[in-house]
Formats: sequence, C-alpha cells, structure tokens
Amino acid sequence: MKKIDLRSDTVTLPSQAMKTAISHAILGDDVFGEDPTVNELQNLAAEITGKEAALLVPSGTMANLVSVMSHCDRGTEIILGDQSHTFLYEGGGISAYGGVHSRQLKNQRDGTIELHDLRNAIRSKDDHFPETALICLENTHNRCFGAPLSLNYIKSVAEIAEEHELKIHIDGARIFNASVSLNIPVKELVNNADSVSFCLSKGLSAPVGSLLCGNHKFIGKARRIRKSLGGGMRQAGIIAAAGLEALGTMIERLKDDHNHAVMLAEGIQNISGIYTNLNDIHTNIVYFEKKTGNGQALVERMANSGVLFFRISPGRFRMVTHYGITSEDIDRVLKLLEDELS
Ligand SMILES: Cc1ncc(COP(=O)(O)O)c(C=O)c1O
Repeated sequence: MKKIDLRSDTVTLPSQAMKTAISHAILGDDVFGEDPTVNELQNLAAEITGKEAALLVPSGTMANLVSVMSHCDRGTEIILGDQSHTFLYEGGGISAYGGVHSRQLKNQRDGTIELHDLRNAIRSKDDHFPETALICLENTHNRCFGAPLSLNYIKSVAEIAEEHELKIHIDGARIFNASVSLNIPVKELVNNADSVSFCLSKGLSAPVGSLLCGNHKFIGKARRIRKSLGGGMRQAGIIAAAGLEALGTMIERLKDDHNHAVMLAEGIQNISGIYTNLNDIHTNIVYFEKKTGNGQALVERMANSGVLFFRISPGRFRMVTHYGITSEDIDRVLKLLEDELS
C-alpha cells in the first residue's frame, strides 16, 4: 500500500529528471566560485526574482539567518510576525549567531501584520532602544494557512520601510506557491523587498537547497557570512543541477497541489467530527480541527493505515499537498478519515 505523507512538502522526493541532471552535472569548487552549475542556478534565481545576484545556501533556515546577518548589525532589532517561521522554528539563530534582537508582532489570519502595529513598533532614536533595522515578511505564510501576501500589502509595508529607512526581507520559502495562486510573477511580488529567500526543497521537490537573492553588495556580504557559518559548499553543482530542473519543471504544477488542497478541505467539510474553513484554503496547506478529543489517536490510527500528517496542537491538524500526491490519494485519505470518525 502506498504511503501518503501529508506532513509537509519537504518530504517530496526528486523526480527522475532531477536524478539524471545530478548525474550529468558539470562541477567545480563553488567556494572558489568555480562551479558552473551553481553559477547557472544563481543567475537564474536572480533573473526570476529580478534581483542583481543570488546565493545558494543549504537550507531555508540558513537563507534567513544569512539574510538577517547581512542586513543587520549586532544589537539592532528586526520586526517579524509572532507566527513567522524565523521566530518560531529557526532555533533562535538570529539572536544566537547574529546578535539581533527580535520584535514579534501579531500575525493576522492572512499572514499579514497590521500596518499600524508595524508603524508603532519602529523605534524612535533614543539611546535606551535598539535600532530597528529590518522588517521580515513571510510569503506564503506557513502557520497562517499558507496564505499569500498581496502585492498591495507588500507595497504598503515598503512605504513604511522607506519612510523609516528600513530594509525588507521576504522569507519566500514558498514564494512560487504565492506567485501561482495570485497569478503574479515572483519578480513583481518581491520588487519592493531588499532581499528574498526561496526553497528548492519544498513544493519544487528538489532534494536540497535554498537561494538568497538581493543586490550585489548584499550578496557579497551574504557570501562571506555563509562561509563563516560553514555553509560554503564545494561541488555544490550536484545540488544546483536538481534545482535548475526544479525551476524549469515544477512551478506550474503547483496548481495541482492547490487544487488537491481544495479537494481535501471540501471533503473534510463533509465529514462529521472534523471541520475546516474553505476561506482559509489558499495554496497547499490545509489546517483542520476535531470537534472533540485531542486527536492523537486519530493521527496514530491514520498512520497505521499509511496516511501521515501532523497534529499541530491538541485537536488541530495540518496536511500539506505536494508533488507525488494524486487526487486518488486525496480520495483515499478522505475515505479513511470518514471510516475513522464514523
Ligand atoms: C516559511 C518557511 N521558512 C523557512 C523554512 C526553513 O526551511 P528549511 O527547512 O530548509 O531550513 C521553512 C521550512 O518549512 C518554512 O516553512
């Protein structure tokens, strides 16, 4: 029986074409800047995001850390959402390694931070205060139902940032999901940001890697910081080859994942005992709740039937659709959920 793993889009395995690309990759020492496949990937990432340059790093976590450390001096403060990945799930790296203070503001259900909250959080010049240096946004927003941030919202944040001479970094781990769902090119979505990171290893299904994009000066600094964090990789074309294949073939198909998420949510709505809100389905992430009980037994019984997903908190669950999950799989998940809950 096929295992249906809905825990995350990070569980995706590389396509056969990626494996072939890996085996044919032309390699060099990327710490010397001599890996042609890495250089090609970085150039393509810069072109897609409309930035001057890009840097391949091992993970989304390192991309965000390197970005924050490149933008901010030690002792400065960044503003970010209280549900953001960087605040919740990156080991506190920006404080531990970057010496950067974080100011967390409430994320709304759609992943935004209220503009007046943002304005109010920016520090005035006073020797008592850390200096605000950077605003971090997340697009799509993982904890906020995979919601994409609208272009208008990003522009409004950029106006505030400009007024106060702050930089903007977008954690675009799933920026292609945002682009596909809003039907807006990535370049436009990140036009107002000073930097953006995106992951190859989530919906795009490559095995490893993230790109950090920005201007030449920023990427030059980021390159030094990546090295000092131990993220300088040698024949990294092995990774980049799969990334190039991912960017060439895996973006448009994200629509399938979004359709599967809607299918899943509609099915969940018809099963008594659990519920979800269709208004919260934006891309490939489905959160749902159980009306009674904490749901641990449900997760375990479904796992025994080959369906994996996370219980995020008591009675609350997350399923993520991705490459390798078919509409037949969604039907099977719904049937099993119905059997378990009846
Ligand atoms: C929004 C967001 N940013 C960053 C990351 C970190 O990526 P990685 O797991 O490659 O470190 C994730 C991972 O799930 C994420 O969802």
